[in-house]
Amino acid sequence: MGVGAHWRAAGRPTVTARRAEWRTGSSRRQICWERVLRRSYSSLWGASFGFLFLLGVCFIYLPDPSASPPEEDRVTLLIWNHPFGQYRELPDCWELFQIDRCTLTDDEREYPNADAVIIHHREIATRRVDLPPEPRPRAQKWIWLNYESPSHTPRLWLLEGVFNLTMSYRTDSDIFLPYGYLVPRERADTGLQSRFTHQLRGPSHSDFRRPRLVAWVVSNWSESQARVSLYYELQKFIRIDVFGSAGRTLAKGCDNVVQLLRRYFFYLALENSLHTDYITEKLWNAVLAGAVPVVLGPPRKSYERFLPPEAFIHVDDFATVQELSRYLLMLRNNPARLRRHLDWRGRYSVHLPVFWGEHFCTACKAVRKSRDRTDGVKDLALWFHS
Ligand SMILES: *[C@@H]1O[C@H](CO)[C@@H](O)[C@H](O)[C@H]1NC(C)=O
Ligand SMILES: *[C@@H]1O[C@H](CO)[C@@H](O)[C@H](O)[C@H]1NC(C)=O
Repeated sequence: MGVGAHWRAAGRPTVTARRAEWRTGSSRRQICWERVLRRSYSSLWGASFGFLFLLGVCFIYLPDPSASPPEEDRVTLLIWNHPFGQYRELPDCWELFQIDRCTLTDDEREYPNADAVIIHHREIATRRVDLPPEPRPRAQKWIWLNYESPSHTPRLWLLEGVFNLTMSYRTDSDIFLPYGYLVPRERADTGLQSRFTHQLRGPSHSDFRRPRLVAWVVSNWSESQARVSLYYELQKFIRIDVFGSAGRTLAKGCDNVVQLLRRYFFYLALENSLHTDYITEKLWNAVLAGAVPVVLGPPRKSYERFLPPEAFIHVDDFATVQELSRYLLMLRNNPARLRRHLDWRGRYSVHLPVFWGEHFCTACKAVRKSRDRTDGVKDLALWFHS
């Protein structure tokens, strides 16, 4: 999951660096003025010319106070628990995402000073980790962080009236960051974005002659899941290559699913459970590989918030599984029709947020924006299950 990134611990050093910058700024200002004075002795003409010229230089090169906002605008975000207990170094939000004035820390001793605390659901629900102590510092916000679907989000009712902000894949979260999103090509080419965006390319000859038809990667196989029923039906009509712990073994590594899928026309991007906005990296792996995703999840309209309508094939588009299978076979033999599902690619890049560094930095930025508001999350369970 996610893109390899070289993270550095954020924190105090950035503050001191910024202060040092200010100091250099003021001494540079002094030098400028000294030069102005020295010049003005030489001649009246020279002085006025030099004055205006150097004043101009001073204005251009001195730091603009409005560009370096005051330190009280700085946000300290405490990471209460590393998601799933997996320790990861905290990122430098400025370096990676150009989000400034954010201090991330996982040091509990910072609790009294933290503007916000971000708390990952799973470890709290399973009681591996306790909530932070009450009473909480005045104005501190608690953020509920969860990227699992409601089916895999146990004991939500324990957490009513606890949080101030939600962060999840749901578009109506207070802090929304999906598993992936498209960036139009023009915007993706600029600096920062390009680091975590992957350029897609329009269809080439080989895309119409891929050696295999349909792949499915599945790690948690459960007879009660809609996707397993779909598989049983679909494999009566077409051949499906199954990978993952329930099928053939897959080479380890982030990029391997994408490599594998480059050999396939279609990929079954079937979510483990069907819920509002729950669209995971399964979809984006297919998109990256240029395999047309066949999706089972929320309704078509949800997917269309993320992709052009022709970029995926929705299981609900067909009255029967057999019709779906006929459609896939038809596309394989009909490049002109398949092209409709691939042509959009040339205009976009895919951004895959880095778990969890990008989430923390995005949250930090959101905390600054909502600073003056006091609010609690109402009906967390009811909302998340809706
Ligand atoms: C696998 O799926 C079942 C049924 O959906 C669920 O109860 C279980 O928690 C899942 N296991 C994991 C590891 O996600
Ligand atoms: C956060 O939520 C709690 C619980 O609802 C509430 O008591 C507290 O005043 C809220 N704080 C802020 C800063 O919104």
